[in-house]
Amino acid sequence: MTPWRKGPALADATRGRLLFGGDYNPEQWPEETWQDDVRLMREAGVNSVTVGVFSWAKLEPEPGARDFGWLDRLMDLMHGHGIGVVLATPTASPPPWLGRLYPDTLPRDADGRVEWWGGRQHFSHSSPTYRRYAAAITEDLAARYATHPALTMWHINNEYCTFDHGDEAAAAFRRWLRERYGTLGALNEAWGTAFWSQGYDTWDGVLPPRHAHYLKNPTQVLDFRRFTSDMLMECFTAERDIVARHTPHLPVTTNFMPLWAGQDAWRWAQEEDVVSVDLYPDPRDPLGGARHGALVQDMTRSQAQGPWMLMEQAAGAVNWRGVNHPKPRGLNRLWSLQAVARGADAVCYFQWRQSRQGAEKFHSAMVGHAGEEGRTYQEVRQLGAELARLGPHVTGTPVTAEIAVLHDWHAWWAGDQEARPSTRFAQPDLLHAWHRALGEAHLTTDVVHPEHDLSGYKAVFVPQLYLLTDAAIENLLAYVRRGATLVCGLHTGVADRDDRIRPGGMDARLRELFGIRVLHEWWPLETGETVTCAGFTGAPGPGSGLACGDFAGTLWSEEIEPADPDETIPYKGGELDGLPAVLRRGRAWYLSTLPEPDALRALLARIAADAGARPVLDGLPAHVEAVRRGDLLFLLNHSREPVTVVVPGTHGELLTGASVTGEVTLGRYGAAVLRR
Ligand code: GAL
Repeated sequence: MTPWRKGPALADATRGRLLFGGDYNPEQWPEETWQDDVRLMREAGVNSVTVGVFSWAKLEPEPGARDFGWLDRLMDLMHGHGIGVVLATPTASPPPWLGRLYPDTLPRDADGRVEWWGGRQHFSHSSPTYRRYAAAITEDLAARYATHPALTMWHINNEYCTFDHGDEAAAAFRRWLRERYGTLGALNEAWGTAFWSQGYDTWDGVLPPRHAHYLKNPTQVLDFRRFTSDMLMECFTAERDIVARHTPHLPVTTNFMPLWAGQDAWRWAQEEDVVSVDLYPDPRDPLGGARHGALVQDMTRSQAQGPWMLMEQAAGAVNWRGVNHPKPRGLNRLWSLQAVARGADAVCYFQWRQSRQGAEKFHSAMVGHAGEEGRTYQEVRQLGAELARLGPHVTGTPVTAEIAVLHDWHAWWAGDQEARPSTRFAQPDLLHAWHRALGEAHLTTDVVHPEHDLSGYKAVFVPQLYLLTDAAIENLLAYVRRGATLVCGLHTGVADRDDRIRPGGMDARLRELFGIRVLHEWWPLETGETVTCAGFTGAPGPGSGLACGDFAGTLWSEEIEPADPDETIPYKGGELDGLPAVLRRGRAWYLSTLPEPDALRALLARIAADAGARPVLDGLPAHVEAVRRGDLLFLLNHSREPVTVVVPGTHGELLTGASVTGEVTLGRYGAAVLRR
């Protein structure tokens, strides 16, 4: 595969402004309403709308027919009001006629059940018929609007996320496997089919991991996940190449679901001009939501290697949790500014106007059922004005991070399976815990793939990577050899790329790095069970204040016989009494348990300080977030209680235009953006 051109960038669409707007579904409304829409958009400072995401049946009401008239009028209307259009290919929700005429376009789950039309995303990524129709409508859409002055960017499909276990997918899976392994012998070897008499004598016998009597072959499952991500990506790149041929000057994106299991977003991000993500933290827990948001934003920025696009968020409640809470006053603004602080150059929503019908009529929008009088729209309008002021100061500027946290989908896929030592956690849980600990210590982190260049970081943190390729291991070893700090968490480096356990239960190179002679046994912990670990003192230097008394290890523990570590924190009591819970050799650390949150924060902060990484600001309470972007300092209060923050020197505050000397008070869910 030749690398994607990565030509036009988000900057070509933003042109010095922050994009502000959302998904706009005008086909759900009479055209009179469009006039009201543009009036309210302009009043709210909306400068970008994403159109056509679910318009296939409207554009192609019967096979091969085209109805572009309404979209022509809409594009002209937007252009007439200075609002740019991110035009979507409508291929996420095929019209009912496609499935009716071509049942092979419908996906099947592992139990063989068809996913029928009547919802959305009912397409088989492997179906040539689906791909043919998707390409045809994409071609005509791109040809028709290529030169339209409203068009600023392409949005391909929507949240690619379908699995398919049907016959079309089975055939494609075999092709994919042939390409990966070449011979059936190599496949049998990689999948370990000597176990349970699974050896294949013909490619035709190889299937997706369909419903089975008992545990499935884990490498088959792992490869199926890789295959699914690759097939969906083929659908994406096919449409991308069509639109790019018509508009080589315009950027192309597709919106990720954050940390979604079905898509290797590191790989995908390389195929996009603009990386965009949809983010829906739960407003019931403003602080927890902010922590989740920070992780997703740091990851998206790292994937984009620069500014990124918040394609969707909710202005208020979603409708897909059990109980759906609205956003309390101020939270929409706060979380939007958080995204900008962490590198977003676009703050957009699902959706512009709340639907009156259909499955999402209880999902909030920028203009809710309460209309322009409603609090949600009023807050949106205020935010639009603030983002317009902020835009010229922030657009295109970088966020710098001194440390990185590593993440990889393949390690997650391999680790998150049946029949493991413990099913009490999945890799993203540990990623969240570690990222949160570092965030509460006010350290800004990138989130990085284990095979990427790590040389710019003072310390690298690996919450858990069960599977590490040889290239990743060599990358980590080279990083430590350069004198930098590496911290790895439990059950890391266990499997190779085929999910084959490495001899000794952890890669020998890593065992040597950490000072582990023998890894005797894993001792996973039950829910609520903990294991006591001895306290630790702060390191000399800036980490010296970060001491901690005895603490609880949670989730997991390991029976490790050390070789000659430079430092250990032992388990106290129980089976593992005296054995190392944490050990360090040189600048390489290994944590064989998940310390309770306060201890994890103290330990990781101590190690980071020792490595020379500095908090953004000293003395901040945990619920105040501080992020530097370019020459701006964002301060965000994730609490209902006002808080005063000490900021040495005199600054201009960009949201209010006020001048700030020595300290600044942030109101309930308040924010300040300071520039010296
Ligand atoms: C996203 C999706 C939107 C809308 C939204 C509701 O996943 O892309 O179309 O469904 O969720 O939260």
